[in-house]
Amino acid sequence: MSSLNILASLQTNGMIPEEYKQMPREALEKRVVEIKQQLGKRLFIPGHHYQKDEVIQFADATGDSLKLAQISAENTDAEFIVFCGVHFMAETADILTNNKQKVFLPDMRAGCSMADMADIQQTERAWEVLQGHFGDTILPLTYVNSTAAIKAFVGANGGATVTSSNAETMVKWAFDVKERILFLPDQHLGRNTAADLGLGLDEMAIWNPITNTLEYDGDYSAIKVILWKGHCSVHENFTVQNVVETRNQYPNMKIIVHPECRREVVELADTAGSTSYIINEIEKAEPGSAWAIGTEMNLVNRIINDHPDKKIISLNPHMCPCLTMNRIDLPHLVWSLDTLDNENNMVKVSPEITENAKLALERMLENS
Ligand code: 13P
Ligand code: SF4
Repeated sequence: MSSLNILASLQTNGMIPEEYKQMPREALEKRVVEIKQQLGKRLFIPGHHYQKDEVIQFADATGDSLKLAQISAENTDAEFIVFCGVHFMAETADILTNNKQKVFLPDMRAGCSMADMADIQQTERAWEVLQGHFGDTILPLTYVNSTAAIKAFVGANGGATVTSSNAETMVKWAFDVKERILFLPDQHLGRNTAADLGLGLDEMAIWNPITNTLEYDGDYSAIKVILWKGHCSVHENFTVQNVVETRNQYPNMKIIVHPECRREVVELADTAGSTSYIINEIEKAEPGSAWAIGTEMNLVNRIINDHPDKKIISLNPHMCPCLTMNRIDLPHLVWSLDTLDNENNMVKVSPEITENAKLALERMLENS
């Protein structure tokens, strides 16, 4: 047994042993390379675009939430999937892979503050009240940034998941099925998508899960979209003031933002789209062009480094990376790889939840 495996076998309470945190970066990197060589195709490491460079360098595939879900559904070979992203993404991978495949999240504390803004009890309570108001006219849609239990609820009620790359398609799809939608848990993605499809803000109500009430002034019959009152704590930090200051300081700069930003910010930006959309737009842009980006900082910094021929800044000069994405670092990746056999940090969704959550995910994948 190598000294690291002995170390790994000593870990307790699901917490990383201190020794991993003390290891020099070169030793950690060497260990990842060794394990990848040893396991070959038995191991697959997907990495979301918001992951740190020290981790993303080892990803076998990188992508936005949609691409990573598609890859998980297609990969039937890898025995160990070590997901470099956040908890709901690892759950999605577990739902979409087969029973022989095991999904790991290198740090179980890598959650998502937005996904935490909706739980299944709140969702069931909301549904009961909304059914009382609107009867059987609502289809639930949930952003993939939600728990597996919410995905299962949505699947069981005929709805689907969405990501920021296919939200428009999925909202259109939902309106072919029912008269109204309940969009969980990101009010901004829901509002931006519905508004881009031509719905008025006066056709959108907000569901407040804390007070268990609908926030809307007017006749409920006009409501087409019910937006769950949740948001991304990273993207809410881009403000109208950031846009105004950027326009004043750099009149020729284009502003590109993620649709998790508030409606006012998206409306003032030149363009908006998922992480993959942002990457592709900058890739296609003319050398010498100037861009302010409104999304997570690990990705913005990577785009800046990849495009020395363009002037690129963060739309908010004081932005930080997503703290939960950042929990996946090199020491946690190595610890996770070292402990695959004792199933440390394994993400397992129950068969009952998997069945219905898969319905919601498959409806999305079929339409993407
Ligand atoms: P996308 O990967 O769909 O752009 O989503 C961004 C995000 O916030 C993931 O948590
Ligand atoms: Fe969640 Fe926002 Fe972080 Fe994405 S960026 S994982 S939505 S908190």
